[in-house]
Amino acid sequence: MQLSNDADVVQRSLQLLAAHRNELSAHFFGRLFGRHPQLQSYFVNSNHAWLERKFASALRSIMQAATSPQEFEKQLGSLRQTHQGRAVEVEYFALFGEVLLETLAYYGGRGWTPDVEAAWRSVLTTVVDAMELPYEEMTDSTALNRNDAAA
Ligand code: HEM
Repeated sequence: MQLSNDADVVQRSLQLLAAHRNELSAHFFGRLFGRHPQLQSYFVNSNHAWLERKFASALRSIMQAATSPQEFEKQLGSLRQTHQGRAVEVEYFALFGEVLLETLAYYGGRGWTPDVEAAWRSVLTTVVDAMELPYEEMTDSTALNRNDAAA
């Protein structure tokens, strides 16, 4: 894994994607709910503006994982709690990551090169793995508690 190099690449690519800032969230959630309707119930009662904020927060966390992994680590405990508290199922994180990648690719245009895709994939894999980890430890509930305390 080469997060610092990936960080430069994803940061530059996000700057190029900024031209589509207003479309990204609607496209992402349209694609996510179209493909995986079972995820919609987590976002019930949420309006367009709320979804945009949620999308921006998730993107910020992902960028932070790339650019400042230590800061990301500090927030992981509460991020995991937010999602576990809403009973998000473990396999949904990978679906979320995959649809995000497709959304970025859709708007990436000529700037979406194999290197850029590989850098995003690497960052997203890191984030998805980090979100999934406590679920894997859940067979031993003391391990989950230890993990939360350390985060
Ligand atoms: C890699 C994947 C994901 C990342 C990085 C991520 C990141 C975030 C972040 C940063 C927030 C804001 C937390 C806060 O304000 O305290 C959030 C909120 C939320 N996330 Fe995720 N998320 C991911 C996947 C998912 C999935 C798969 C679901 C459900 C299927 C989900 C459902 C939610 C909901 C419902 C909230 C709103 C919490 C609230 O403000 O009430 N997230 N997420």
